[in-house]
Amino acid sequence: MNRHNEMETVFLSVPENESFARVVIAAFAVQMSPTVSEIADIKTAVSEAVTNAIVHGYEGTRGMVTLRAVIDGTVLSVEVTDQGRGISNVAQAMEPFYTTHPEQERSGMGFAVMQTFMDEVNVTSTPGSGTTVRMCKRIAPEARH
Ligand SMILES: Nc1ncnc2c1ncn2[C@@H]1O[C@H](COP(=O)(O)OP(=O)(O)OP(=O)(O)O)[C@@H](O)[C@H]1O
Ligand SMILES: [Mg+2]
Repeated sequence: MNRHNEMETVFLSVPENESFARVVIAAFAVQMSPTVSEIADIKTAVSEAVTNAIVHGYEGTRGMVTLRAVIDGTVLSVEVTDQGRGISNVAQAMEPFYTTHPEQERSGMGFAVMQTFMDEVNVTSTPGSGTTVRMCKRIAPEARH
């Protein structure tokens, strides 16, 4: 199968757009005929990345978040980008239970959740310029269902 498709959605960093992003990625991914469980995984991972962009990237300020997705055959790739404060130590930030906001009852599990539900998670970030989270997940061909 050589299916290829792409989309990009840009939205303001307000909490209402966490659920908007979940719906958008689900509506795009559904053409791959994922299982209910695969769709739930993708929505959860995207939601964590978008929440991070809003609460950490822009932290009290407003900016735009870009959600980009590509379907290449059986693989869905997703990118969530902000132009916020960035992360100085990405490896440390990705450690389970690491959070810079324990006082907000954050558990530091967002990146761990993304890694659990997606096949690959890569983060690039420049302090002062922003962060991009790239994730991909293989969706088994429709014949399986
Ligand atoms: N887009 C981002 N911009 C700036 N910093 C970020 C961004 N995403 C994550 N971080 C930093 O990485 C840390 C870890 O992120 P992670 O999502 O794993 O945990 P959390 O958001 O603190 O808690 P939780 O996701 O469990 O509510 C954050 O506390 C924050 O310091
Ligand atoms: Mg988080």
